[in-house]
Amino acid sequence: MSADAMPSERFDDLGPAVPALLDGRRGRGVLHGLKLDESHVPSRHRELTSLRGRRRECAALDRLLDGARGRRSGALVLRGEPGVGKTALLQYAIGSATGLRVVRAVGVESEMELPFAALHQLCAPLLDRLERLPGPQRGALATVFGLSVGDAPDRFLVAVAVRSLLSEAAEERPLLCVVDDAHWLDRESAQALAFATRRLLADSIALVFATREPSEPLMGLPERVVDGLGTADARELLDSVVRAPLDDDVRERIVAETRGNPLALLELPRGLSPTELAGGFGLPRTLALSSQIEESFKRRLEALPKDTQLLLMVAAAEPAGDPAAVWRAAERVGVARQALEPAEAAGLLEVGARVRFRHPLVRSAVYRAASAQQRREVHRALAEATDAETDPERRAWHLAEATAGPDEDVASELERAAARAQARGGVAAAAAFLQRAAELTPAPRRSAQRAFAAAQISYEAGALDEALALLATAEMGDVGDLEPARVHLLRAQIAFASRRGSDAPPLLLKAARALEAVDPNLARATYLDALNAALFAGRLGKGGSAVEVSRAALSAPPSPRSPQASDLLLDGLALLITDGPSVGTPALKRAVAAFRDEDLATEEGMRWLWLAGRAAGFIWDYEGWDALTARQIPVARNVGALAVLPLALSTRVGVHLFAGEPRAATSLVEESEALSRATHSRIVPYAAITLAALRGREDEVKRLVGTSTKDFVASGEGLGLTLAQWATSVLSNGLGRYEDALGAAEQAAENPHELWFSTWAAVELIEAASRTGEVERAADALEWLSRSARASASDWGLGVEARSRALLSDGDAAERLYREAIERLQRTRLRVDLARAQLVYGEWLRRERRRLDAREHLRTALEMFRAMEMEGFAGRAERELSATGERARKRTVDTREELTAQEAQVARLARDGLSNSAIGERLFISQHTVAYHLRKVFTKLEITSRNQLGRVLRPSSDPAGLV
Ligand SMILES: Nc1ncnc2c1ncn2[C@@H]1O[C@H](COP(=O)(O)OP(=O)(O)OP(=O)(O)O)[C@@H](O)[C@H]1O
Ligand SMILES: [Mg+2]
Repeated sequence: MSADAMPSERFDDLGPAVPALLDGRRGRGVLHGLKLDESHVPSRHRELTSLRGRRRECAALDRLLDGARGRRSGALVLRGEPGVGKTALLQYAIGSATGLRVVRAVGVESEMELPFAALHQLCAPLLDRLERLPGPQRGALATVFGLSVGDAPDRFLVAVAVRSLLSEAAEERPLLCVVDDAHWLDRESAQALAFATRRLLADSIALVFATREPSEPLMGLPERVVDGLGTADARELLDSVVRAPLDDDVRERIVAETRGNPLALLELPRGLSPTELAGGFGLPRTLALSSQIEESFKRRLEALPKDTQLLLMVAAAEPAGDPAAVWRAAERVGVARQALEPAEAAGLLEVGARVRFRHPLVRSAVYRAASAQQRREVHRALAEATDAETDPERRAWHLAEATAGPDEDVASELERAAARAQARGGVAAAAAFLQRAAELTPAPRRSAQRAFAAAQISYEAGALDEALALLATAEMGDVGDLEPARVHLLRAQIAFASRRGSDAPPLLLKAARALEAVDPNLARATYLDALNAALFAGRLGKGGSAVEVSRAALSAPPSPRSPQASDLLLDGLALLITDGPSVGTPALKRAVAAFRDEDLATEEGMRWLWLAGRAAGFIWDYEGWDALTARQIPVARNVGALAVLPLALSTRVGVHLFAGEPRAATSLVEESEALSRATHSRIVPYAAITLAALRGREDEVKRLVGTSTKDFVASGEGLGLTLAQWATSVLSNGLGRYEDALGAAEQAAENPHELWFSTWAAVELIEAASRTGEVERAADALEWLSRSARASASDWGLGVEARSRALLSDGDAAERLYREAIERLQRTRLRVDLARAQLVYGEWLRRERRRLDAREHLRTALEMFRAMEMEGFAGRAERELSATGERARKRTVDTREELTAQEAQVARLARDGLSNSAIGERLFISQHTVAYHLRKVFTKLEITSRNQLGRVLRPSSDPAGLV
C-alpha cells in the first residue's frame, strides 16, 4: 500500500474504485458526493473540495491538521454506522493534508487474529527510522514485525516504541496517521496505537480513526459521531444517481428510510428498475440498513457470471488484498483472469497494486453469499497459494478455515503458528490459534490440553472472560494427570487478576495444595500468590485467611532447589504472621538481603521486588524499602514491563512520603495513575490517600476514601479499608481531632495479621489515646509495636517506639524517651517521624511549663512540617507554639505558580543533566513534549535556562526512583 506518498498521488490509492464509481449518470461532476473539478476528472491530480453536508466534520479535521502543522498533536475518532461516510471523511483529511506525510492502516475483519497486522501497515513506511529508537524499543518493534527474533516484548513497550517511531518520523515532516475500519483492528495494534496516541502532545502528528462501533482501546480519545446527511443533502445525493425522475413521495420515502446514509442512498436505488423506483416498491423494510445494502450488493452479485462470483469469493477471503495471492488461488479453483472484467464493470472490485472492494459491505455480502462448502474450497486454495515459509501464520489460518471437522495435521500447524505468534508478542493471536487448534483436535485429551494452553495465554493477554470460557472447555475434556492442579491455579489467578478480591485466596490456596505433589516449586510460588492475595483481602476475606495460608505454606514440603529470594520471602511473611515479629522479622531480613543481592534472578525481581520492598518497610527497614523499590523501577522500565510498573511505583511512593518529599511522591502517584489509565488497569488510590492525609487535606481524604471504599467493599479488598482508616487517623492526629483519630486507628489496628498498615495504625492509636487521656486503650498497641520494633532493632523502629512510649510516660522517663526518639530518628531519613517527635516533645515541654525549651522544639517541628508541605501538622505545631507565647513568623508567600506533577518531574530530570530526549525516554513522551513542559516550567519559575533549575528547585531525591 502506498502509505508514504503525497496526498495527490495517494488519492487514487485511497479512493473507492474510482472508475467504477464514475458512472456519470448525471454527469454533474459529482462523484458520489465528492465535488470534483470536471476538467480534472479522472486525472491523478484532483483536488477534493467538499463533501455533501459535512462542514462541521471537515472543519474539525482541518483543525486537527493545522494543529499537526503547528506542533500540536491531536486525535479524532470518527464513529458511525456502515456507509455513513467515515472513509469519505478520511479521504477528505488525506486530500487536505498538504505538507503532511500520510501513513495509513485499515482493519480487516479476517485479520483480527493476526497480531500487529494493522500496526505493521501503518509503520512499514517508517521503519527506516527504527535505528534511531532506543535499544529496547527498537528490539520490540523488530520482533513484533518479524524483522528479527527475540523474546516476546511486553505489549506496552511496543506501544512506547510506536510512539517514538511516529515522533521520529514527524521530525522530518508533520504526520497524518489514518486508521480506517478500526473496529477490525487486531487487539495488539489497537492497544499499541491507543497508548501511543495518548502519550502525544507537542509533536506534529494528527491521528484519525474511523470505526463503526465504540472500541475499548480507543475509548477516551476525542470522538465525533458521524450521522446520516440532512434531508436536503440526502435528496440531492439520491437525485445524482437515479436516472429516471423520481416521484416526490418515493424520494421522501427513500430519504426517510435510509436516514440519510450516503451509501444506502447511492446503493439501494441501483438494484431497482425505473418502474419499481417510480412505484416505490422493492425497498425491503424489515432489514437493518446495512443488511439492506448488503442485500442490494448480493442481488448485483448474483447477476454476474459464475466464475466472476467465484473470483470475488477468493478476493473476499484474502484479507491482505495481495493480487498475486488472489490470482494464484483463483487459478487453483479454475478461474481465469477474464473473470475480473464483469466485476470491475459492475463497480464491485478493482485489482491494481492491491485488490480492493468497492466497500467493505461488498466484501461481507460476497463472503456471506457463499455456502460453507464454497468458503472452505476457497480458503483451501488460498492456503495452498500462501507461502509456508514467509507467511506461515496466514497459511495456518486459511487452513483452519478450510477444515470442517477434526484434523490433527491442521491442529498441529495451528499450534505451531500459535507458538510463532507468541514469540512475536502476539498473545491474543496465539490464544485464537490455540483455541481453533483445540476445536480441530480429534483426540479428546490433546484437545483439552490445547484449550487449556489457550486459556493460559488468554489470561496472560489480559482477556479474562475468554480465559474463563476456555478453561471451562478444557475442564469438560480430559486434561490428564498433571493438569487439574494447574487448572485450579489458573482459575485462581484469573479471579485475583480480575478483582484482586476476596474470592481469590481460597482458590489460590487450593491450587497451591494440589500442586505440592506435582510441582513443589510452583506450589511455593502459588503459596506466595495466595498470601499476597490474602493480605489484600484482609478483613473482607472469605476463607483462605493470611493465617491459614501461612500455616499451609509452612507445612508444605520444602523446595528441592536451594531457596530463592521468593522462597525466603514466603517463609518470612508466613512466620511473621503465625509466630509474630520475634520469629518473623529475622526471616524477613534474610529475604530482604536476598532481594538486595546482585545475583537476584531477573524473573524473581520483576515479580516480587515490590512485595519484598513493602515487607522491608513493614519490619522498619527503610534502606531496604528504598533500595528494593528503586531497583525494580528501572528494571521494569528497561524491559518495558509496564504492567508491574504501577505497583512498583506506588510502593515506592511511601519511601518519599516518609522522607517528607511530597513533590517526588506526587510525581510517582501521577505517573502510576497515568500508566494504569494507559494500560486500562484499575486505579487504586492507596498512595494518593496517604499523600492527602499527611498533607492534612481533609476534603481530599474524604473524597478519595468515600469513592474508593465502595470499590474496596465491592471487590473484597479489605486492605484498602485498613489503609483508609489508618490515613484517617493520621489526618485527624494532624488536625488535633484526637477522638476521631483514636476511633479510626482502633479499627485499622484491629487485626495485626493484616500487616502493612496495622502496625502504623498502632502508632497513631497510641498518640491519639495519649491526647484523649484514655491510655488504657493503648496498652495492646504499645505491646505489639514494641515487639515489632525490637525485633527490627533499627533506629526507625526503635525511634518510633521510644516516641510512642514517651507519650504514655511521665517525668524523667518521658523526657529520656523523647530524647532517645529524636536522637534515633535524626540518624535516619525519616523526616516525618522526626518532625512528629519534635512536635510531641515540644508539646510535653510546654505542659511541663518549660517554655523556652518547648519553643525551640515546636519551632523546629513547624519549620519541618512546612518544608514538607504537611499543613495539618504544621497547624498543630503553630497552635502549640502560640500557646507558649510565641507568634509564629508568617509564611513567606510563594507567589510562583505551582508546577504540575509532570512539569516537576521533567524539571528535576533536566536539573540532573538529562537531555530532552533522555527525559522523554524515561517518561514515555517525545522530546517535544518535554520541551513543551520545560517552557512552562521556565515561565512559572521565572527563569530562562536549565542551568538555573538547580537554584530554584527544592532539593529532593530522584522521584523516578533511579538512584
Ligand atoms: N458526505 C457525503 N456526500 C456524498 N457522498 C458520500 C458522503 N459520505 C459518503 N459518501 C459516499 O457514500 C459511500 C459510503 O461512504 P463510506 O465508504 O465513507 O462509508 P463508511 O462510513 O466508511 O462505511 P463503512 O463503515 O462500511 O466503512 C461512498 O461511496 C462515499 O463516497
Ligand atoms: Mg469505511
